[in-house]
Amino acid sequence: MTTILDGVATGATIRSEAAEAAATIRNQAGRAPGLAVVLVGDDPASQVYVGSKRRACEAAGLASFGHLLPADTPAAELFALIDRLNADPAVDGILVQLPLPAHLPTRELLERIDPAKDVDGFHPVNVGRLWIDEPGFVPCTPAGIIEMLRRYDIPLRGRRAVVIGRSTIVGKPMAGLLVRESATVTVAHSKTRDLPGLCREAEILIAAVGRAGLVDASYVAPGAVVIDVGMNRVSDRSLAERLTGGDEKRMAAFERNGSVLVGDVDYPAAAPLAAAITPVPGGVGPLTVAMLLANTVTAARRRLGLQAAAGG
Ligand code: GUN
Repeated sequence: MTTILDGVATGATIRSEAAEAAATIRNQAGRAPGLAVVLVGDDPASQVYVGSKRRACEAAGLASFGHLLPADTPAAELFALIDRLNADPAVDGILVQLPLPAHLPTRELLERIDPAKDVDGFHPVNVGRLWIDEPGFVPCTPAGIIEMLRRYDIPLRGRRAVVIGRSTIVGKPMAGLLVRESATVTVAHSKTRDLPGLCREAEILIAAVGRAGLVDASYVAPGAVVIDVGMNRVSDRSLAERLTGGDEKRMAAFERNGSVLVGDVDYPAAAPLAAAITPVPGGVGPLTVAMLLANTVTAARRRLGLQAAAGG
C-alpha cells in the first residue's frame, strides 16, 4: 500500500500550532507576531501567493503588513522600505516575494533584510547557519518537507536521499536539512549522467526541477519515499490526461482553464512503486505557507526573548 502524504492536513496542523503560539505571544508580549510582505509588480502567480500568505496570517492571529508596489519602483525606494521594516518593532518577519522585476537587484535587496527577520531564510547569514548547525531560518518549502516526513514517522537517519534540483530556494537547503538529519545525500541536476539510474538508488527521492512528469517509473525504486516539489502548468491535453491519470475533476479544470497544475513526478506511473508519495496539488504546496507562519512565530519569540512552549 502506498501512503499518500497529505500536505493539506499536515499544513493545517502546523498552522493551528502557529495560531496557538501566536495567542501565547499576544498574552505575554501584548502584541501579535507580525509579518511584512513586499510585492513589487503585478505578476498574477505572485499575487495569488501573497494573498494566501496574508489570509493565512490573519486566520492564525498574526499581524500582516502588505506593501504592494508598482513594477517600476526604483531600487532606492525598496532599500529604504526594507530599512524601515528592519527598524519597525511590530515587524518580526520580512518577506520579499520573488521573482522581482528584472531592473531590481534581487540579491542586494535580500541581503539588506535583517537576518533576525529573514523568515524566508534567503540571507547568506541564514544560509551559512544551516550548514554549520546553528539556529537561524531555513527556507519554508524544504523546512516543511522535513516537518512532514517527521510527522509521518518517516526515518531519514542513514538513508540514501537524492534531491533533483539545486536551486537556492529548494534544492540546496533541502540537501542541507537532509544532511542535518543524518541522511546520505546526493544532489542531482541537469548535468547529472544517468539520472534515472541514480534516482533508483534513492530511498528518499525529492524532485524540485520544474519539469512536468519527469520522474516516471524508471526513476523510482520499489519502496521509495517520493516528494514532489514541482508546480507546472500543462496545456498539452494528452500530457495532462497522462499525468492526472485522466482524473475527472482535474480534466474538467483543464477544459475550463486550458491548463492543469502537475508536479515533477509522473504520479500515475510512480505512485504504485512508492511506499509514500506527495500528490500535486495537496502535497508540498500547503506546507510552504504553514512554515512561513511557524518561522514568523519563531522570529517573534527570539526577538522578544520568549521560550517555546513544551513540545512547540
Ligand atoms: N517565490 C516563489 N517561492 C517563494 C518563496 O518561498 N519565498 C519568496 N519570497 N518568494 C517566492
